Amino acid sequence: MSSRATAAQEAVHSDSYFCEAPADPCAIVMFGASGDLAKRKLLPALYDLAVHSCLAPRFRLLGFARTEMSDDEFGRQAAEFLPGKTPSGGADSAHRDFLQQLHYFHGEYNDPGTYQRLAKRLDELDREAELGGNRLFYLATPPSVYPRIVEQLGRAGLAKPKNERSWVRIVVEKPFGHDRASAQALNEQLLSVFDESQIFRIDHYLGKETVQNLLVFRFGNGIFEPLWSRNYVDSVQITAAESLGVERRAAFYESAGALRDMVQSHVLQLTALIAMESPANFDATAVRNEKIKVLQSIRPLDGDSVRRDVVRGQYGPGCVNDEPVPGYRQEPGVNPNSATETFAALKLFIDNWRWSGVPFYLRTGKRLARPSAEIAVMFKRAPHLVFRGEAVEPNSLVLNIQPQEGISLSFGAKAPGSKLHIAPVTMDFRYRRAFGAGSREAYATLINDCIRGDATLFDRADSVEAAWALVDPIIDAWKNGPAPAFPNYPAGSEGPEAAFDLAESDGRQWRPLP
Ligand code: BG6
Repeated sequence: MSSRATAAQEAVHSDSYFCEAPADPCAIVMFGASGDLAKRKLLPALYDLAVHSCLAPRFRLLGFARTEMSDDEFGRQAAEFLPGKTPSGGADSAHRDFLQQLHYFHGEYNDPGTYQRLAKRLDELDREAELGGNRLFYLATPPSVYPRIVEQLGRAGLAKPKNERSWVRIVVEKPFGHDRASAQALNEQLLSVFDESQIFRIDHYLGKETVQNLLVFRFGNGIFEPLWSRNYVDSVQITAAESLGVERRAAFYESAGALRDMVQSHVLQLTALIAMESPANFDATAVRNEKIKVLQSIRPLDGDSVRRDVVRGQYGPGCVNDEPVPGYRQEPGVNPNSATETFAALKLFIDNWRWSGVPFYLRTGKRLARPSAEIAVMFKRAPHLVFRGEAVEPNSLVLNIQPQEGISLSFGAKAPGSKLHIAPVTMDFRYRRAFGAGSREAYATLINDCIRGDATLFDRADSVEAAWALVDPIIDAWKNGPAPAFPNYPAGSEGPEAAFDLAESDGRQWRPLP
């Protein structure tokens, strides 16, 4: 393993995130520029792209929000969130260069006059910096504002490219709708103003390095794919566990919950990637065509099957990393009788030839013992064991998405000694060890793709709607059933008892959170 790692390290540039060619010059209009997402994720991601020569030297960022603020003030606020300050806390030259490209624009989201002014401001920036008319609109506001922005962009003529060489794109943050009907309505509205090829529905999990590697791992290597089916796979476990609580997002989370927030998007996207057939090629249409087939083949849950195969939970007070933490109902902004789930576990079946009969166990939750996102493919036991009295753990292949990114394969090995004893061991690949580089922030990867017009890692209208079609009946069944007995797991645990039963009643077990 170590000699391979050295070869891999040699094969990559010391910092492999430098782009071979900068993207087209463009103006990025960030709606919701004073919000948390913009400050904590989007600005640092753009900065990362700028210092790695991925953005055109002539790009411009126009932060859009309702508060009045000068360009300088916006720059000062943005600087607080950029990585790598000088020891004195001041800006170094990379910061200064980046901050010079930032501008600010204030206005009301539903005021036509605002968008006339915006059009003028964009024309000015276009002329000053020779941006070629290229524009990226990024919706990072609360989702309730999206329809107003989209409508006004359309009315102001801002959705159409200025000439045949320029482009206009729009990035739509999750949550994409609140249920299938609202997602459909948003898709219809977007498509009445933009063409599908202009719309980039973002799911930041798809920008994570291991998630992208999943396709390379499956379809770039000949040895795994023959095993990747009901013939050899016993079950699949997908975990997205967080040790953080609801943080400052109570207002949003109270009306969302784990199922809408995580399962509808990230967890079902992972399911689609792990279960899909090989695409004809690695382009947006081919990859997304295969993913949608998986979502459409998942056996719908409702009524009895929700009661049997879906578990919801909410954390009570507990201890995380040896620190006492409040329960969900005690978090600021949360209803003291809240019935919102902070944990969900489900058993799904994919009714197709490859996966028929193989259970997919999915779980996600906040305030769990440790953060961990992984996909574990659990293989069937060897058909016949010749080592009398020696139990051998079945093989598993674990794709670690975070915090440590890598892949491990477990198998049984003879422990040294005169007695024949078989112990489970693992063969590990770690990104950092193999390639030396840490992984790039998912947002940087995705914004880079979007500026270059590559939609492979973005959601398509049909897949967002198909995911809602799976989640809606669960939410309906919960609404129509008895009130949940919350809280049902202490913060810092591995989730509610009922989630363990979900796997144990099938004679299986969840992998412990690492
Ligand atoms: C977001 C959810 O989409 O993903 C959050 O809204 C969640 O509730 C977050 O915390 C998890 O993302 P990551 O990259 O921190 O694992």
